[in-house]
Amino acid sequence: MTAIAKNLLPDTAEVGERGQLIIGGCDTLELAAEFGTPVFVYDEAHLRARCREAVAAFGPGVAYATKAFLCRAMAKLAHEEGMHLDVATMGELHVALDAGVPGADLVLHGNNKSDAELRAALDAGIGRIVVDSFDELDRLDMIHAADGHVAPVLLRITPGVEAHTHEFISTGQDDSKFGFTVSSGKAARAVERAGASPAIDLLGIHAHIGSQVFSIDSLMKSAEILARTAEPFGLPELSVGGGLGVAYMNGETAPTISEWAGAVHQALADAGATARILAEPGRSIAASAAVTLYTVGTVKALPDIRTYVAVDGGMSDNPRPVLYGSGYEVFLARSVEADRDHPVRVVGKHCESGDLLVREGVVPADLAVGDILAMPVTGAYGHSMGSNYQKVLRPPVVFAADGDARLVVRRETLADLLTRDL
Ligand code: LLP
Repeated sequence: MTAIAKNLLPDTAEVGERGQLIIGGCDTLELAAEFGTPVFVYDEAHLRARCREAVAAFGPGVAYATKAFLCRAMAKLAHEEGMHLDVATMGELHVALDAGVPGADLVLHGNNKSDAELRAALDAGIGRIVVDSFDELDRLDMIHAADGHVAPVLLRITPGVEAHTHEFISTGQDDSKFGFTVSSGKAARAVERAGASPAIDLLGIHAHIGSQVFSIDSLMKSAEILARTAEPFGLPELSVGGGLGVAYMNGETAPTISEWAGAVHQALADAGATARILAEPGRSIAASAAVTLYTVGTVKALPDIRTYVAVDGGMSDNPRPVLYGSGYEVFLARSVEADRDHPVRVVGKHCESGDLLVREGVVPADLAVGDILAMPVTGAYGHSMGSNYQKVLRPPVVFAADGDARLVVRRETLADLLTRDL
């Protein structure tokens, strides 16, 4: 088997003099020693480059979907590079505002926003609320009656388009908890209702068909339905959501943000749309910007069955393999270009057999206890979906750039575990 594919590594990844992985000019073996493992190491230049690419491709107002990965440093970085931020809970709203992002540059999502979330967003002068249901329209009417807030709104429609991704992250099909269905006429009714409400400044409509989508055809089809649904109403904005897939495994390639934007603009132009186009990528900004570094703690060889390699993290820092059966690669941080020909299963430290990171992986045959194992493409939906299951301390996040590494989220401490325990 082959060495790790270069397209899975962050933009600035290099091979050091001793064969080791360098990110942002920093030796990852030294980062592991300094910050401990597990640790998420982000290539700051990679994040900035993807944000800039999104702004160039979609224009200012394109939003970074913070659910992929959020901390104040990330919110600041995306905003500095000209992006707005998509937040979908009170918590994400709070972190984005605390990072100094103005409310006007935020978009609030969610299929079940609470009164408190809607009010907090309106109080912060939110740029857009993407309304998901008639119940939410009722709620905005009530808030308006109570305190006069007028909400800037996009309506989320469900276009009836299959994203061809995992069922759990498909959202464009009619059988979905999200949005106003186009095929049943709910979408058109919602536009009429919102347009007539004094509580709402109706800016446009929105569709997001799912995540980790590789089918440009599906993304184009959704954009076309968006344009056709909006056409009779002459609304000024259309948002195509996020969803662009990324490569996780050797041999995979994904469309770039620019290619996605080009296809979507073409579909919208063909459908006659003249509205401003918005989008909200998450994964394609952050996923391949990071690698997780783990330390190998045990190697259990079962002759004729398999070899288990256990690391010091697991489903608590990356639940994606367990949740979605997602595939990942691993390699030795000391030996980036080594051939990986030794089949292993990489598992975590949690007390269940389901706690696996790589079901069928390959590593160099000389892997040993104490080695630093690097798992690429963990920058999206890893840290953000992590937990402290079994009171495992959440890993720190390090941003590496130009030879400097800055700690942007510290490791959880034992004291942290008791802060909410009364
Ligand atoms: N906009 C909306 C309304 C969304 O719901 C999402 C993601 C995005 C944008 C960003 O999508 P992206 O560009 O990141 O694909 N935890 C799953 C992914 C869940 C995505 C949820 N919504 C995973 O780890 O694969």
